Amino acid sequence: MKTIIMSCSILMAALSLNAIADETTLSAAQDAIKASNKSEVSFKNDVQPILYDHCVNCHSPGGKGVLKSGLDLTSYEKLMKGTVFGPVVIPGNSEASTFTKLLTGTNKGLKMPAGLNESGTLSPQYITLLKNWVKQGAKNN
Ligand code: HEC
Repeated sequence: MKTIIMSCSILMAALSLNAIADETTLSAAQDAIKASNKSEVSFKNDVQPILYDHCVNCHSPGGKGVLKSGLDLTSYEKLMKGTVFGPVVIPGNSEASTFTKLLTGTNKGLKMPAGLNESGTLSPQYITLLKNWVKQGAKNN
């Protein structure tokens, strides 16, 4: 009888420890999500690597994107200068910025990054990062 009670309480203790562990993991995950929604996106650390991986092969001098639109994405200054027609980033407004609009929808059939894959779409977390950077004022940070 004693052993049964003993093992029962060990089991209970193990179970409650488990519950605590789960709660801790859950709240850590929630904190991480909150942080990623709020924390400031950096041009240098977050935005530029995405541009270099997915856009710069066409949007650098001599590339198709520069030849056709004049949009060079190799630096902050050039991105902010925009195309031959003018700016593509409107700081604070990701809905009105061509730069971020083309990532999720088309503009006269044009969608970016052109030819990345069948759907021509960046992964959702990259789109969110680029949009948040514009929303946060498109800073050179
Ligand atoms: C395979 C080549 C290619 C890739 C990769 C590419 N682009 Fe482009 N991009 C182009 C071309 C070509 C144009 C000019 C299209 C036109 O004017 O018809 C263009 C034009 C643009 C424009 C201007 C559109 C306008 O309305 O004037 C933006 C903004 C743009 N690209 C953003 C991006 C971004 C952001 C990426 C990366 C996520 C990207 N592009 C990747 C080829 C590319």
